[in-house]
Amino acid sequence: MKTIGALIWEPGTRSGWSVEDIEIDPPKSREVLIKLAASGICHSDDHVDTGDIPLDWGPIIGGHEGAGVIQEVGPDVEGTGFEVGDHIVLSFLPSCGHCRMCTIGKSNMCEMGAGVLGGFAPDGTHRVHARGQGVGPFSYLGTFSPYVVVNIDSCVKIPKDIPLDKAALIGCGVPTGWGSAMYAADITFDDTVVIVGTGGVGMNAVQGAKHRRAKNIITIDPNAYKRDQAKVFGATHSFASYDDAAETLAQLTNGQGADVVILTVDVLHGDLLNPAQEMTRRGGTLVVTAAAPVLQRDVPFDLFTFAMSGKRMQGSLYGTTIARRDIPLIADLYKRGEFKLDELITKTYKLEQINEAVQDMRDGKNIRGVITYDD
Ligand SMILES: NC(=O)c1ccc[n+]([C@@H]2O[C@H](COP(=O)([O-])OP(=O)(O)OC[C@H]3O[C@@H](n4cnc5c(N)ncnc54)[C@H](O)[C@@H]3O)[C@@H](O)[C@H]2O)c1
Ligand SMILES: [Zn+2]
Ligand SMILES: [Zn+2]
Repeated sequence: MKTIGALIWEPGTRSGWSVEDIEIDPPKSREVLIKLAASGICHSDDHVDTGDIPLDWGPIIGGHEGAGVIQEVGPDVEGTGFEVGDHIVLSFLPSCGHCRMCTIGKSNMCEMGAGVLGGFAPDGTHRVHARGQGVGPFSYLGTFSPYVVVNIDSCVKIPKDIPLDKAALIGCGVPTGWGSAMYAADITFDDTVVIVGTGGVGMNAVQGAKHRRAKNIITIDPNAYKRDQAKVFGATHSFASYDDAAETLAQLTNGQGADVVILTVDVLHGDLLNPAQEMTRRGGTLVVTAAAPVLQRDVPFDLFTFAMSGKRMQGSLYGTTIARRDIPLIADLYKRGEFKLDELITKTYKLEQINEAVQDMRDGKNIRGVITYDD
């Protein structure tokens, strides 16, 4: 079918997104065609343009935070539990359900997920074409288009009474932040937590900390709007910098430091790491969720203190969530009024406005900007 999509032809050159005509193939084995309601814009999409996530191939169709309705099913889908009309949140990492990592409850590490930035559909071919060339999808998805053809291993069914434009956010930013607090950090009710960077991911770490009934939820963000908004999601204190937070953190913890520090800034430059360790109490947990520039290698870090104070540093991919469990769970929490999705969406855009939307994200204007696709 013919539609439009937002592409980057030369990743890493800060070219911005090119909205143009694309051709999408029909679904192949175990694939479905989905008409999307919306796509969130995650900072990870921008990393492809800036080169913080370097790709040696192009063009890429961006977007990995989408939700929509199945329009058509390909061969071998019948009997898998997916059918036309199902409402789907696209998981930015697939879960095949039968590799070792999936079977030990770590589907965020599904072996199939290893190829998500390889430039092809999981079977090594292209579904999207532009200017006569194959186009690689971000995260096997490419939600910067009103339609996607995706493998069912990237699809998670949600109830039909959840608004799809809100549900789109449960494909990446929401579970990544929420899970970073719930699972990667394993926060408990007595904890003092510091969350550094409260955008589309970090605000959900705040929500996760609140669900775990953390005693103190301190957020740090240089952006005044984000500091105000953090309170809406459950922050008890908000500061502009590590230095500004230091005195209150010391008062709240008898000088010990935070039980948990979670890093959810836009780009994790190395100089942010050691101060985060310094804020973490002895035996506490430092969760690294934000993407660092992939090629960054030299990071100043006080390893002596780290070891001798028994701290734990925990990487957090997709918030350590299990997509097939946590996406429906978050949708249900939303339905019960226990999870904020509406408040995460600051502004909606048409696909043609994508570069404006990305600039707004870089300028810190949005918690999440969302592209909506109308009929
Ligand atoms: N680990 C994963 O699985 C995963 C998944 C999704 C996104 N990410 C990454 O998470 C990060 C956050 O993504 P996002 O979409 O929320 O970005 P965002 O742009 O919405 O939010 C980033 C926030 O960090 C703040 N910030 C910038 N510098 C700061 C500093 N020095 N101290 C405190 N705050 C600072 C910004 O003001 C902004 O509010 C990105 O690096 C993204 O690539 C990781
Ligand atoms: Zn993302
Ligand atoms: Zn798997």
